[in-house]
Amino acid sequence: MNETDLKKILRDLTWQEKVGQLIQLSGDFFSSEDALTVGPKQKLGITQEMVDLAGSVLNVAGASKTREIQEKWLQKSRHKIPLLFMADIVYGYRTVFPIPLGLGATWNPELIEQAYKVTAAESKAAGVHVTFAPMVDLVRDARWGRCLESTGEDATLNAAFARAMVTGLQHVETGKITGIASCVKHFAAYGAAEGGREYNTVDMSERRLREDYLPGYQAAVDAGSELVMTSFNTYDGTPVTGSEFLLKQILREEWGFDGVIISDYAAVQELVAHGIAADEKEATLLAMKATNDIDMKTGCYAKQLEPLVQEGKLDPGLIDEAVWRVLKLKNKLGLFEDPYRGASSERERKVLLTEENRDLAYQVAAQSMVLLENKNNTLPLAKNEQKILLVGPYGDNQNLIGLWAIHGNTSDVITIKEAISQHVSASKFSYSAGCEMPSDYHFLGEFGGSKEQLERMPLAERKQALAEALEQGKQADVIIYAMGEHTMQSGEAGSRTDITLPDVQKEFIQEMLALGKTNILVTISGRPLVLTEEANQMDAILQAWFPGTEGGRVIADILFGEINPSGRLSMSFPYTVGQLPIYYNGFQTGRPLNSETHKGRFVSKYLDSPNAPLYPFGYGLSYSNVELSSLTLDAEEMVDQLHVSVQIKNNSSRGGFETVQLYVQDIVGSVVRPTRELKKFKKVYLKAQENTAIHFTLTREDLFYYTKKMDFTVEPGDFNLFVGLNSRDTLSASFTLK
Ligand code: NOJ
Repeated sequence: MNETDLKKILRDLTWQEKVGQLIQLSGDFFSSEDALTVGPKQKLGITQEMVDLAGSVLNVAGASKTREIQEKWLQKSRHKIPLLFMADIVYGYRTVFPIPLGLGATWNPELIEQAYKVTAAESKAAGVHVTFAPMVDLVRDARWGRCLESTGEDATLNAAFARAMVTGLQHVETGKITGIASCVKHFAAYGAAEGGREYNTVDMSERRLREDYLPGYQAAVDAGSELVMTSFNTYDGTPVTGSEFLLKQILREEWGFDGVIISDYAAVQELVAHGIAADEKEATLLAMKATNDIDMKTGCYAKQLEPLVQEGKLDPGLIDEAVWRVLKLKNKLGLFEDPYRGASSERERKVLLTEENRDLAYQVAAQSMVLLENKNNTLPLAKNEQKILLVGPYGDNQNLIGLWAIHGNTSDVITIKEAISQHVSASKFSYSAGCEMPSDYHFLGEFGGSKEQLERMPLAERKQALAEALEQGKQADVIIYAMGEHTMQSGEAGSRTDITLPDVQKEFIQEMLALGKTNILVTISGRPLVLTEEANQMDAILQAWFPGTEGGRVIADILFGEINPSGRLSMSFPYTVGQLPIYYNGFQTGRPLNSETHKGRFVSKYLDSPNAPLYPFGYGLSYSNVELSSLTLDAEEMVDQLHVSVQIKNNSSRGGFETVQLYVQDIVGSVVRPTRELKKFKKVYLKAQENTAIHFTLTREDLFYYTKKMDFTVEPGDFNLFVGLNSRDTLSASFTLK
């Protein structure tokens, strides 16, 4: 539709129709079954008339469902303004990719762009117009359950993934969104919730906010993300949904974002609970003034916008601006021409979970898993030479897709047991669960999970399971433990203070270790766990995350050497939970700890734990033996650019991917600078014995930061430069910026 016609619609809308465009309600409001609609409507004070005018639908997907709702809707709609269907498609629709923390570990944004393109194609076929993704909250505290949804702790890496995800999702061709619209979230700094406790306060300097936490969102906005979702947290005393500083000043004015801002679930109403608004009316006023366009799942806008304007408290122009942004989005998506955007059951059959999609999920999972330990080259395992026993609650379990894969189907997943059995003969392989998942089910909360899932195994069965595993373990040479967190132990509202393996699993490991076999741990988790004990106990550890539809197959293929592991951590694995938050790019202190073996007292350190994490950012092993040497800078002084090269050599007969990482340290600044910061990275494939040079170009802009005066610029002076295969073990050089 051309802009003139769209403007005409805006002018013709009645007051109530305009408000309707700014309301998002969940699918149950639109259901024809009264039993479903009476409850929520009553609770939020939403009338049937409001439902009939609402502009968008939350979390309904599937071609037949979305078509049915849209069709009925349009029959009633005076201007035939189609509904927008928005849903959480966070890391795959039907074909489920690894959780984003695993995607971060691929260090391969190009590959992830492809994954999100597939995700968009599947979602579009299912009638979804907007996905609430990417989630780009920078994460430094593994206690927070939502680390699962983020690509990690580094601003540069997060920004690269944010761009890739938005580009893949929206898939713009000749100016048109051929994929689905992306809604970057949760703006802003939600990942810094104090103590890692869900929905908690965020408070930090503006410098840190801008330097570390905002680049991910900004990269998404620059890549054209059509929507932005506000976060639940406060920043500097103001909940983001009511923050003119964050939404109006930074997002709209500084970054020029002209798309739709949507509040997170009930976040407008929560301004009251935060204690920044006395009632829903004040909450609505704050959110509107901050330029939040759509109110997700509360009755605030629906009930309060009209009285606010009548009382002269709210400029009606703000409502027009918000409605205009929503109409423009609907038009951009081509909804006026085709309100279904080609969604149909037939299309779903064609594009969901195709062989190619599964193959891509396999490749992504292959690059996401991180080999954390591999003592004496325990892995890869030789086929049919040793007797293998698989144990643990994830051994024969299809729940490998994680909490946010709400449209994925666990029945599509091949279990680890099944996948291993395709590598070895039955006489050499056995399985015994041995123990249950967690022992603390009652902590998981009431959301989801059937009663059966939440109940413990009776004691007699537990004893029996252990006895069986021990018996089989005696016959085995190698024991593979498939263990980790229950799906419900991470994700939204999945904060934990103990992030070790669940007690039952740890106790079980102890029993099995006494058998003196070769021990391999495969960890399934939505966050970095504290694996300090296991690092000592195990001969090898493979961090597999929630690896998605193809996860089981990939795990087996890594264990048997068909895949050379190439994942590198995008989030530090703490040595102990007491170190959190922990991240590689902290500031230098006045009393730095220069050596972990330092004996003195008065330096910045813990008395009972190293400062360093167990596994640092950027870390991961492979089956090759790769070495860096000859770090060379083309000049000692830099004006606009510096060319950096390093030699990389694969001293093994196995080809594989390596990720070369370049960090810098600004030695003296007008404010303190991080001890090192990632600036460049390259993931390269090295053939067996290959010896080649890797080149980077560092530009002046790469060294920009927020100076004492909050100017985003550089300060001439000396810099250290580090290149390595992780953030800890690096070659170094130095240069002077002129
Ligand atoms: C709340 C979550 O914080 C957000 O990530 C999600 O997109 C919305 N609910 C909608 O489901």
